[in-house]
Amino acid sequence: MAFQYNFPTTIRFGAGVISELPAYLQKNGLSRPMIVTDPTIAGLSFFKSIVNDLQAHHISVEVFSDIHKNPVKSDVYKGTDLWDHTQRDSIIGIGGGAALDVARAIVLRVNHREDLFKYDDLIGGDIYVTNDVPHFITVPTTAGTGSEVGRSAIIADDETHQKKILFSPKLMAKIVFADPALTMDLPPFITAATGMDALTHNMEAFLAKNPHPLCDGIALEGIYLIKNSLEKATNKPDIESRSNMLMASMMGAIAFQKGLGVVHSLAHPLSSLLDTHHGLANAVNIPYGMQFNIAGFEEKFRRIARTLELKEETGEAVVQYLFDLNSKINIPHHLRDIGVTDAHVETLADLALADFAHPNNPKPVTREDFKQLYLNAL
Ligand SMILES: [Fe+2]
Repeated sequence: MAFQYNFPTTIRFGAGVISELPAYLQKNGLSRPMIVTDPTIAGLSFFKSIVNDLQAHHISVEVFSDIHKNPVKSDVYKGTDLWDHTQRDSIIGIGGGAALDVARAIVLRVNHREDLFKYDDLIGGDIYVTNDVPHFITVPTTAGTGSEVGRSAIIADDETHQKKILFSPKLMAKIVFADPALTMDLPPFITAATGMDALTHNMEAFLAKNPHPLCDGIALEGIYLIKNSLEKATNKPDIESRSNMLMASMMGAIAFQKGLGVVHSLAHPLSSLLDTHHGLANAVNIPYGMQFNIAGFEEKFRRIARTLELKEETGEAVVQYLFDLNSKINIPHHLRDIGVTDAHVETLADLALADFAHPNNPKPVTREDFKQLYLNAL
């Protein structure tokens, strides 16, 4: 069998690397970047320092931050309007998954002006991504989605809230400035929830059915880094735990080009229906989703258990580890604790079945399975 492996881009990693951004732009002849971020980050002092530093180097900056927590198409159109009206020459996405998704979708839209969802990868729209795209730089400020090293953006329809995936290798950042110092002040809840998203990426990627030994190795090391660092980063952060989490989140995103699985399909409908934080939705569901996956895949779970250095090298021990980790970082064990009720289950099961992630789960997931998993987690 033939395989193709595409590995990511240039990553500058380490505390303080953000200070290299102005010189990088100058070296590449760029002087008019548009920064895409979210409204919260736009108000933080580190963000203002980045903008000030660029301006001190005679770089003209426009900031676009008018985006939703779960981004929608109109966010992308508004950002592209700003691009059109301010003669920009590059795009810098600074933020977590939402900001980087919108930034990447604007990168696409600049030279691709058909309806945004014509480019939806799920209907084969990636073949229309044929034109050049602006110079794109990413700067992660959370350690979770790993979107900074990704090549896809998830954008929802404004009315139906249905999520579409824009995908193309052209949408990969030219360079990532991954500076763990920018994540030092993340509050405990965001650290915990985004960290569990990263853990879910690594675990689901390792289990995903497509053969990809490179990703498997990366995923296991990502799991190991998170095991050693998430609790510390959440409850008593230092630069080492923050660095490990930032690295592990990028590793998760690199690994999940192999595919995700049942946990992400359980989580996505919670965000569309109830606006649940993506990381929190994964965190609550992951023990149940992993329990579902054990039978038939005991050897893979044994390898995860070994990576986690558990006494018992079994899937059940991995599930117990996940519950215990959630407890240590203040993530609830049940969906009812995050606003889900019995009345939501049928709709959630419909949405989960339609989700794009579970076809790569190691075993098939039926609508009845999804319903049972939600009831188990409730
Ligand atoms: Fe995720």
